[in-house]
Amino acid sequence: MSEEKKDAQNVARAPEGASKKRVKRWQIVLGVVVVVLLAAGIGFYAWHNTPGFCGTMCHDSMGEHLDNYNGVDASGGAGQASWHAQNEGTTCLDCHEADLETQVAELGSQLRGETDNLGLADRYYVDNEKCLSCHGGSYDALAELTADLGDYNPHKSPHGQMNCNECHKGHAAQVNTCGQCHDNGGQTMRGNN
Ligand code: HEC
Ligand code: HEC
Ligand code: HEC
Ligand code: HEC
Repeated sequence: MSEEKKDAQNVARAPEGASKKRVKRWQIVLGVVVVVLLAAGIGFYAWHNTPGFCGTMCHDSMGEHLDNYNGVDASGGAGQASWHAQNEGTTCLDCHEADLETQVAELGSQLRGETDNLGLADRYYVDNEKCLSCHGGSYDALAELTADLGDYNPHKSPHGQMNCNECHKGHAAQVNTCGQCHDNGGQTMRGNN
């Protein structure tokens, strides 16, 4: 091989090597950006999971519920949220599913400044499955766990199964539904009334 040919090969290789280096630097920059974004995302996510987030980001619409949860405002009855907060450290998102649809709807309302009529009751409806995920897993299992409530066990009613929050209100005074029509075996509603 002549010297000339070798030089030509080296010249041909040189830009290739340089572009490899450039790709590497790109990858490092990208890597750093991804790490920073991830860290911010995790930080945001952790903050998002705190009750303070709900009050800070949406204070006009959520402040009332945050105060109620914290036991500061019990004008309409405190309810299960504050009982769970004080006794079990339960957070808003333990009871309220932060699904994408809800969050997008909430963000839209906040951006439009619609804080009066948010359809909150629909958006933050808590279904039985959510409560049961911590209380036995199924209505039947809950009935067994509370078998000591006897013949008038509200979780094993001859009238059928009801939604938990028809009796155990989240942010309002508890309702002794069974006692509204007949003796209920001497039960009283618990939680922070
Ligand atoms: C993240 C778990 C969790 C969720 C979600 C949850 N709870 Fe509880 N709850 C607990 C724990 C823990 C206790 C205390 C032990 C027990 O009584 O089972 C408790 C206690 C209770 C009590 C007894 C309160 C008292 O005064 O002794 C009631 C009533 C209750 N929960 C109802 C509900 C209802 C209704 C929901 C849904 C709106 C719900 N819980 C959601 C964990 C949870
Ligand atoms: C122990 C479960 C529980 C916790 C914790 C909880 N909630 Fe609720 N929340 C409920 C239930 C149940 C309802 C449905 C209405 C009811 O029964 O009072 C509700 C309803 C709501 C509503 C709809 C409006 C209404 O009153 O119906 C909003 C808004 C809300 N909660 C916000 C919050 C915020 C913000 C937090 C935390 C600061 C929180 N909740 C913590 C159980 C909970
Ligand atoms: C709207 C009124 C009403 C409500 C609310 C109600 N009941 Fe009843 N319940 C009745 C009536 C009326 C009877 C008698 C009907 C019959 O003999 O079939 C009855 C009968 C019963 C019986 C049969 C024994 C008896 O005393 O006659 C049980 C047990 C019972 N209810 C439990 C409950 C429980 C638990 C709840 C709450 C989940 C509840 N009821 C809520 C109206 C009600
Ligand atoms: C018809 C009214 C009614 C309904 C509906 C109802 N409960 Fe209850 N619950 C009561 C009463 C009454 C008690 C006993 C007194 C009390 O703890 O408030 C009770 C007690 C409890 C307790 C405490 C049990 C213990 O021994 O510590 C839990 C937990 C509970 N309920 C969870 C639920 C969940 C979860 C649902 C829905 C799947 C539900 N309840 C539906 C009326 C009701």
